[in-house]
Amino acid sequence: MMEIEFLGHSAFALRHGEDEVLIDPYLSDSPTAPPSAQKVRPTLILVTHAHGDHVGDAVELSKRFHCPVLSTFEVAARLAKRGAETLGANIGGEFEFPFGRVKMFNAVHSSSFEDLYGVGTPSSFLVTMGDCTLFHAGDTALFGDLALVGEEADIDVAMLPVGGVFTMDVKDAVKAMKLLKAKRMVPMHYNTWKDITVSYEEMRKACDGRGFELIALKPGESLRL
Ligand code: NI
Ligand code: MN
Repeated sequence: MMEIEFLGHSAFALRHGEDEVLIDPYLSDSPTAPPSAQKVRPTLILVTHAHGDHVGDAVELSKRFHCPVLSTFEVAARLAKRGAETLGANIGGEFEFPFGRVKMFNAVHSSSFEDLYGVGTPSSFLVTMGDCTLFHAGDTALFGDLALVGEEADIDVAMLPVGGVFTMDVKDAVKAMKLLKAKRMVPMHYNTWKDITVSYEEMRKACDGRGFELIALKPGESLRL
């Protein structure tokens, strides 16, 4: 069995046995991180792009738990300078870990640190852990090549941004689900700030009858598969 805990915004902890893969750990500065965010014990951290609401506590957690941060080469290099253990990679790269595999795919977005624009390229992650295949889309607009991710694997859970403004909205996330052919959608990157407010009703209406299950986790809630 595996556990997928939503830690607010785009942060998730994927747990299987002794392994914990933490994705986009925006925790200590996040207005929506749950108290359980203080209990993370990552064995691997994945960072989709350099924006602060995705890098979050990656450096501090890497130092504390002696775990690597996997991100695009340029982002990893900068996090390494701050003292993180890193695995520099790029779109198309696939990596074996004791728990399973991680493959990096595209995202249509931007990637910059507060003081440095255009660092690396934004990415998304296909993670195989235990018997489950999960896709974390990072921050992205809708784009056709999401169909290639759908061809790569049978996706049990797709974590997709739905807040609009900086990413795709709910309407486009439903189209993304069609390309990904995923069984379940867990929405993310919404209700963190006022300008990305989305109601549950709105999501339910958009997703009803589309051939997948909408699972809107509240921060601190988990999905077990
Ligand atoms: Ni972003
Ligand atoms: Mn973001």
